This record gives sequence, C-alpha cells and structure tokens, in this order.
Amino acid sequence: MTSPDRNRPIGIFDSGFGGLTVMRALVDQLPNEDFIYLGDTARQPYGPRPIAEVREFALQGLDYLADLGVKALVIACNSASAAVLRDARERYDIPITEVIVPAARRAAAATRNGQVGVVCTEATATSGSYDDALAIAHDIDLTTQPCPRFVDFVEAGITSGDELLEAAHGYLAPLQRQGIDTLILGCTHYPLLAGVINYVMGDDVQLVSSAETCAQATYSQLTRLGLLHDEPREASRRFLTTGDARSFEGIGRRLLGSFVTDVEQVVLEAVSVG
Ligand code: DGL
Repeated sequence: MTSPDRNRPIGIFDSGFGGLTVMRALVDQLPNEDFIYLGDTARQPYGPRPIAEVREFALQGLDYLADLGVKALVIACNSASAAVLRDARERYDIPITEVIVPAARRAAAATRNGQVGVVCTEATATSGSYDDALAIAHDIDLTTQPCPRFVDFVEAGITSGDELLEAAHGYLAPLQRQGIDTLILGCTHYPLLAGVINYVMGDDVQLVSSAETCAQATYSQLTRLGLLHDEPREASRRFLTTGDARSFEGIGRRLLGSFVTDVEQVVLEAVSVG
C-alpha cells in the first residue's frame, strides 16, 4: 500500500442514508478530518437485492470515491460490506474499514454466555458475513434475524409508536427465546432504533452498534498509519448522492443534523467487477 496524503479527505460509502449514522460517529471521533459521503440513494435499499448486485453497485460507489483521491474508504453499510468484504482490500491501494468485522469482534469480547444475536437486512443475513467474522471466536453461537421493515420505519422518521413496537416484538422474540446477552445492530439504520430495541430486549442485553465500532476501527487504523490530522482545524464535509439532492438533504438533516447541506447529485459508472 502506498502512503496516502493525510491532508486528503476520508470517503464514506453507503447505499443511501443509513451510513449517516456511521458518519455521525466518525465526525464525533475524528472532528478534524474532512469527509466525503456518497449515498447510492437512487438504488437503495440494497438489503433486499441479490448479493452479486449489491457487490457491483458498492464497487461502483467505492471506485468513485477512490477516484476523488480520498486517503481512506469507509464502507458504511452492512449490506455493502457483506458483499465486498472479501475483495475490497485487494482492489484499493488505500486503507479500508467496514462495519461487520469490528462489530463482530466487539460482540465476541462483550458476550458472557456466548449467545450473540445480529439484526440486519436480508442481504447481510444471506451473505453469512457475521457468521464468517465470528468463526474465529470459539464457543459463540450466533442467531441472525433479518428485520426488513426497520429500514422503512427509520426512513419514514418513525422511531416510536405501537406499529414499530409490534414489529420489534415480532422480530426480536426469537432472539429472546435464544437467550442472547449481546445484540449487534448490523444495519446502519438501526442505531436510530436503539431505544425501541433496548426497550424490548431489556438492559441485560448489550447492544453493539456497527456504526460506533466502525468509527473506532477507522480511528485505530488511521492512527496506526499516521494518517490523522493531529491539530485542531476547520474540517469540511461534502455530500454526494445518486438520487435527488433535495430529498437527500431533507432526510440527511433529520438523521445527521443541520450540517448536511449543499448535496451534489452524481452518476456512477459501470465497473469491471471481476
Ligand atoms: N445501509 C444498509 C445496511 O446497513 C441498510 C439500507 C439498505 O438496505 O440499503 O445494511
């Protein structure tokens, strides 16, 4: 790997808006860094798509950010991470972090009874990526629960109420029956549902946010490589979307706050995915 310039921004890729929860964690932990966020909102959600298609779309987005000259890539989407986990590190000449392995490691360290759960999209569930990431940890039993409606609730701005609570009870009941003590929020929208998930699961179940652990892994990796800004500075944030810029700004401001402004629309090119 060549040594990228520490003055370059960090690129963040997501299928749409959910990666903004990762960006929020990154901005909290790395306030002196410039960020470029790309959300493939024109083609979201990735969760119900076949994994080969998610892989193709994710590589297009990551290639776009790499071509802008970012110093590091963050795959801020569990479905995209699941799809490109195996080959993204070989494809790019810059450091890459993603959401799955750091969350799996944290869960493995946190569990006391070895019963870990993950809630995620269909794409992430069928990829088996969390099973792979936990395979090295002995004595851990992983229960995977896709929760497809959770993304719809978040995007509609619904984080409480009877309908959500009923859906949460339905999705989480198998995890409760399994007796899990640690639950990975394996979708970037789900930190916004941590309240209802904690309400249903109770305080004895630790929640591991893949957004938080991804940001911490990014901090660690860029620190090890000497790629962080050490001095306080005014950092920039740039937002790109493949969809409608105005609606991205509306939803983005709701999820991340008022600094989601001046959103630009971009077109992603087909790439050779090998
Ligand atoms: N960002 C996706 C994930 O973390 C959720 C939204 C989607 O399905 O595109 O899996």
